[in-house]
Formats: sequence, C-alpha cells, structure tokens
Amino acid sequence: MSIGVFDSGIGGLSVHRALVDRFPQADLLYLADQANAPYGGRPGEEIVDLTRAGCIRLFDAGASLVVLACNTASAIALRRLQQTWLPGYRRETGRALNVLGIIVPTIEAATGQPWAQEIDHRDEQIRKVDVLGVFSTPATAASRVFEIEIDKRKQDLAVFSEPCPDLARMIEQGAGRDELAARIGEHAIALKRRIGRFPDRAVLGCTHYEIVADLFRDALPAGTPLIHQPDATADALERYLAHHPDYVAGETGQRRFLTTGTPGPQNGLVVSFWGSPLVFEAA
Ligand code: DGL
Repeated sequence: MSIGVFDSGIGGLSVHRALVDRFPQADLLYLADQANAPYGGRPGEEIVDLTRAGCIRLFDAGASLVVLACNTASAIALRRLQQTWLPGYRRETGRALNVLGIIVPTIEAATGQPWAQEIDHRDEQIRKVDVLGVFSTPATAASRVFEIEIDKRKQDLAVFSEPCPDLARMIEQGAGRDELAARIGEHAIALKRRIGRFPDRAVLGCTHYEIVADLFRDALPAGTPLIHQPDATADALERYLAHHPDYVAGETGQRRFLTTGTPGPQNGLVVSFWGSPLVFEAA
C-alpha cells in the first residue's frame, strides 16, 4: 500500500518532503488538485466535495491512508468526511482506509500536549499569556479552528489569525520573491497591528507558505519560532502507524506526483524549494 498526500496544489510538497525524510522507504502518492486551486476562498461545501473527490482518487490509485497536507481541507472537511462519508465508503470497498489531517498535529506541537488532553480547570489564575500568530487562508481563519481548539487545551496561549487571501494563489502561480516578500510583510504588519505587538511564535497555517518560509522569517522579528507543520505531521503519522499495524507506509520508496491540472514541470518556487525540477503526471 502507499500513503496518499493531498493538497489543492504545491503546498503539500512541504509535508511530503518531511514524510520522505521520516519514512525513506514509504511509497508516497501525491495529488495536487490544481484544477480547483486555491481552496482558501471557496465556500465550505465545495471544499468538502473537492476534498472527498481527492481522497477517492488517492484510494483508487492504491493509497490506504491519506494525509490532508492542506490546512483548509483539514479545517473545513476532515471531521465531516470522517463522520459522514468514510465509514460507509470503508464498508462499500471492504478496505481499511483512513484520512488524517494537519491541524491536530499542529495544535499538539503548539500546545506541547497530546490532542486528547483538554483542560477542565478554568479558574486558575494565568500569569503570562504567550501570543501565537497564525497565517492562513481565509477559509481556515474563518473556521477559527486554531483559536477554538487551542483554547480548550492551553489557556496561557492566545491565538491571533491573519487571513492571507491571495497568497496561496500567488505561490501556486510562481509569483516573484520580491512581490511575495512585500505581500508577506504587509500581513506581518497587519497581524502586529491587531495584536499590538509581534506574536511570540507563529504557525504558517497554509502549507503553501512553508515553500517561502524564509520570507516569513524575514518579515517577523529575528528568531521568532515558527511551529513546523511538516515535522509535526510526520511525528503524528509515526505515532499513528505505530498504533495501527493495519496500515504500513510501504517499502519500495516509490514516489508519484499527480495533478488534476496541467501535467508537467512545476514553477520556479518549487524548483528552489525542492532543490531540483519536479514533474507532475496527469491524475
Ligand atoms: N495549502 C493549502 C492550505 O494548507 C490550501 C491553500 C489554498 O488552496 O487556498 O490551506
């Protein structure tokens, strides 16, 4: 079997790379839904439908476990698909199949606590609050998933989200680094204005942003820690596989990259992030 990695576009490559580092023998099947990217400005129901279609494509192509390397799909679609679609689909196909997301591992990394550990004592006095800034797509920001789930787990961590409406599209279309740096700088300043200071830590809460993580580092005060979603996702997958022997990561190290969009080489930002040209096949 193989592990499917799904994103609207090239952003999930940042997660894919962390999975390759962690599981060098794993057979990985990447699907970019570039025909429908970006997802971040779409209505929720469309994001659910597109994410379901992406998972089916990956399951049909041999994946048993799909990692949604997309915050927008994880925030908007994952719970719904796990509750309303996946159980029936498993019965229909008679296969052990599952879909995992990227938000839970990120929140575990941000809070330093396992997901299952919610707080039940809310009357303790909190002395100091750290501020976490989350840069994300408008859909992820509107879901308030980071605010809600972190508040249930860690009350001394305040979350401020900064929606970045056009940024994933710009990265997907290979915008120049100067143009991207200017846009990212504007978002960092907007977040600073909203908080009243820069955040103590930040999450690049859209996998596309990791492709230009250095530009976010430049836009934030030197040394601001960035919670690394790709590594957090690899950690979570490692724990999941250890507890679910039904799923194996594969053993031939096969890598395939599929797109619903135009097959062929990906843009220059991918080349510099990946370290070499990367060619996608038609899905
Ligand atoms: N890379 C995605 C995310 O993590 C989706 C970006 C988009 O398609 O808008 O949210």
